[in-house]
Amino acid sequence: MHTPTTLPLKERPRRLRRTATLRRMVRETRLSVDQLIAPLFVVEGKHVRQEIAAMPGQYRLSIDELIKEAQQLYALGIPAVALFPALDASLKTPDGREALNPKGLYPRAIQALKQALPELLVITDVALDPYSSDGHDGIVRQGRIVNDETVEILARMAVVQAQAGADIVAPSDMMDGRVGAIRKALDEEGFTEVAILSYTAKYASAFYGPFREALDSAPRHRPGIPPDKKTYQMDPANAREALRELRLDLDEGADIVMVKPALPYLDVIYRLRQACDVPVAAYHVSGEYAMLKAAAQNGWIDEKAAVFEVLTAIHRAGADLILTYFAGQLAQWLKQDLH
Ligand code: PBG
Repeated sequence: MHTPTTLPLKERPRRLRRTATLRRMVRETRLSVDQLIAPLFVVEGKHVRQEIAAMPGQYRLSIDELIKEAQQLYALGIPAVALFPALDASLKTPDGREALNPKGLYPRAIQALKQALPELLVITDVALDPYSSDGHDGIVRQGRIVNDETVEILARMAVVQAQAGADIVAPSDMMDGRVGAIRKALDEEGFTEVAILSYTAKYASAFYGPFREALDSAPRHRPGIPPDKKTYQMDPANAREALRELRLDLDEGADIVMVKPALPYLDVIYRLRQACDVPVAAYHVSGEYAMLKAAAQNGWIDEKAAVFEVLTAIHRAGADLILTYFAGQLAQWLKQDLH
């Protein structure tokens, strides 16, 4: 016969895992709608909602549809959107000059959003890739992405976005010195209150594929055009180097620093959170979204459980803010039930 035994254990961690209520009470981290930023894509046109093939549930939206989407997100409690423009190929040039057009799609979209929803924070993207016929974040000359000339354009671009109403400008390009140049240009034009969210540690990642499909912004396969972004985005093998980028961004005046992608770089998020006093953001990118969606659609994982686990891990690692294509969905789930 089986005799029940009682081990002489002083500590039994399982005691605090016994019921859902108990687990809820002792939970260390929790996701909140307040920390979510929803990336959105805008295109020219009216009543346009084009689904992005590799990102089920995400769309290129014309300005009228963009506003509807933003209204829904804001009603769910999401404080901010990160906006990206999908431009017609005819507007893309080697110098990306459309980025400086104050009447272009992007400034019009920013204005329309701020007019419709003044309280919703609009985070704008500072980089040349949506406007570059070469598919790079900067100007390409003799097979190289030139730094300083690009930085000058980025600073002017940030001013155009601030004039359109951007609350926060977010340089996603990884050129050296761009945060300082953008801060200086904004201040000179009187935009001292426009904040900078810097893509501080942005890695040369394989997880940006679906985003590049959404914008048709991948580096072009042509002689003289570098086929990847490895001379400016960081090597995935490096974490110490992220601290160097952090030091520079803080010196240059970044208000929020970001790690991108998120899940493969939890250690980098953790290091940045330990090393500075400003908010740390993480960008759960398109490829991370696509992986979860694909597995869920095949019935291979439970989407809701997997999304909660992944985003909780990103928050637990130290991300105060999370940019994620799951923002709207997560906000709905957070509203529906207790966790
Ligand atoms: C480029 C940029 C990228 C993303 C946002 N801005 C990636 C890249 O092509 O380098 C990726 C976002 C995502 O994958 O969700 N400035």
